[in-house]
Amino acid sequence: MTNLGSRIEEQLPAEMVNLMQTAGGIAAEQGGSLYLVGGVVRDLLLEKANLDLDLVVEGNAIELAKRLAGTKPARLTTHPHFNTAKLEWEKWGVDFATARSESYARAGALPTVEPNSIEKDLFRRDFTINAMAVCLSPERYGELIDRYGGQDDLEDRLIRILHEKSFIDDATRIWRGLRYEQRLGFQLEEGTLRLLKRDIPMLDTISGDRIRYELECIFQEEEPEKVLSRAEELGVLVRLHPEMKGNGWLADRFQAARKQAAPGLPSFGLYLALLSYRLGEEESEQLISYLRLPGPAARVVRDSIALKSSLRTLSYPELKRSRVYHIIHGYAQSAITANSLAVGSPIARQHLEIFLHELRYVKPTLNGNDLIEMGFPPCPQIKEVLKLLHNARLDGRVNSKADEEELVKEWLGEEQL
Ligand code: CTP
Repeated sequence: MTNLGSRIEEQLPAEMVNLMQTAGGIAAEQGGSLYLVGGVVRDLLLEKANLDLDLVVEGNAIELAKRLAGTKPARLTTHPHFNTAKLEWEKWGVDFATARSESYARAGALPTVEPNSIEKDLFRRDFTINAMAVCLSPERYGELIDRYGGQDDLEDRLIRILHEKSFIDDATRIWRGLRYEQRLGFQLEEGTLRLLKRDIPMLDTISGDRIRYELECIFQEEEPEKVLSRAEELGVLVRLHPEMKGNGWLADRFQAARKQAAPGLPSFGLYLALLSYRLGEEESEQLISYLRLPGPAARVVRDSIALKSSLRTLSYPELKRSRVYHIIHGYAQSAITANSLAVGSPIARQHLEIFLHELRYVKPTLNGNDLIEMGFPPCPQIKEVLKLLHNARLDGRVNSKADEEELVKEWLGEEQL
């Protein structure tokens, strides 16, 4: 029997190990057993870092988390309806759930849950490699529970579902399967691949919110383009939108976006704007409503398509800088970045970059009050004059406050003629 006790101590911070041991002891006192489950167990076996601790108790998760909360200055959040709890302190966080089984009244619906054993809890999970647990109770500390062949599948580098109806119960597992396959460099096991293909239409049973969440997870991956390209190959990507493509063009743009965002990651909006870049206006609106995109992300997608229609103008080399400014000004920043990454014309790209790095920060020094003090009558046209001054700054005709004052005096002189 595999024991991961020492692996836990080697790979997880002492703070977490202590908490898990204390929690295992309290669970035993309460007459239950505690387990570490899911992705963190998979990653322990793969020797990959993962600090997302999911603990499952055969007993009562909320009672256990409450007792633990008394042992340290931690914030406790509970969800009595689901019998789950979260404990957070300093930079740490741990999720507690009560072992449960799930049954699905219909495809894509949220499941009906009942308290149950750890075996049943593991059986409701997506893939064998995510369906292992490590016992944390003092007398069985470190024992690996692997009823469904997760360890063998890790060795054989396979993504395998636990039962025939898995994708029907929860079609988001289709996207999750592709994500793990590409992240880990594994393969979908033959039978799993066949069922995945068979059940692709079940993606229509999933709400836009849940699909959006899957996309958010994909965009957190190191190379999301691999997942999207695999999704295209298997006919999954067209379920986002029939015109969607995940080919080499997209891969190059995603890589360039990452280079630009380093050391951070490109935003959800930027990745999505690139993914939807080749859609038309109407098609992108369909995507926005299907994914129920929140305001800021919807704006990035919309702006990015709208700005695309100005690229032809932006590819003229002799454009004045003020003209460049007014064409681009007002669009969301990620939409501008998406266009600069996607556009073919080097001149248009240069204009977009000049805007992002320079023009958007250019402002005249003088304001409305300064103009009035200099002799302009307080009237609505002052706004126009300020705009002319702004253009003069953008085009480099004035470069200092003194230059601006001189230009304004010239204009005042002309007025009086
Ligand atoms: N899970 C599942 N089916 C889903 C979502 C989650 O069975 N549709 C289970 C899996 O056992 C998974 C665990 O819940 O391991 C936790 O979910 P999540 O945090 O999404 O997965 P991780 O494996 O931790 O994924 P990641 O490494 O991407 O954080």
